[in-house]
Amino acid sequence: MYILTRNSKETKKLGKSIGEELLHGSIIALTGELGSGKTTLIQGIGEGIGIISIIKSPSFTIINEYPGPIALYHFDLYRLRDEQEIISLGYEEYFYKREGIVAVEWAEKIKDFLPKEHLKIDIQMLSLSERKISLKPCGFYYKGIVNRIRGLEGKRYR
Ligand SMILES: Nc1ncnc2c1ncn2[C@@H]1O[C@H](COP(=O)(O)OP(=O)(O)OP(=O)(O)O)[C@@H](O)[C@H]1O
Ligand SMILES: [Mg+2]
Repeated sequence: MYILTRNSKETKKLGKSIGEELLHGSIIALTGELGSGKTTLIQGIGEGIGIISIIKSPSFTIINEYPGPIALYHFDLYRLRDEQEIISLGYEEYFYKREGIVAVEWAEKIKDFLPKEHLKIDIQMLSLSERKISLKPCGFYYKGIVNRIRGLEGKRYR
């Protein structure tokens, strides 16, 4: 399914609804070109989880951890040079320990390392301020989340 948003506020709201659905161990894999709104959506997800700190685009760190009711591990792989780097960062600890929620920007760079079950989110830029946000569940648990988001669509994002 996909959702159209007309500004960053709507994208954040969508993120918040997604965040409210997430449990420990959830993996969100985001793709979309530079400036499409990946971090904006994750800010909303953080809000939905109940994270108080402001989620920023990390400039040099690849992994940022935000404590909250459930911890959020924000991966920004823009500067990831090769797959070896994700191995040395100890990605398995984050992906398989299921302690917190993992959100990965530029997830296409590590597609062979992602757990099979995850929620794929792709953001397409339709214009300066319009985005097409596609949700693709991989696995039963994520299908449930996407079905609930579909039920909310239209009521809450605009
Ligand atoms: N509908 C929209 N949804 C999200 N962001 C929007 C929208 N319309 C305009 N924007 C703007 O687009 C920019 C998105 O920036 P953001 O940092 O979230 O993107 P990103 O995909 O994380 O970028 P990067 O690839 O650099 O990490 C912001 O400046 C935001 O205000
Ligand atoms: Mg970003």
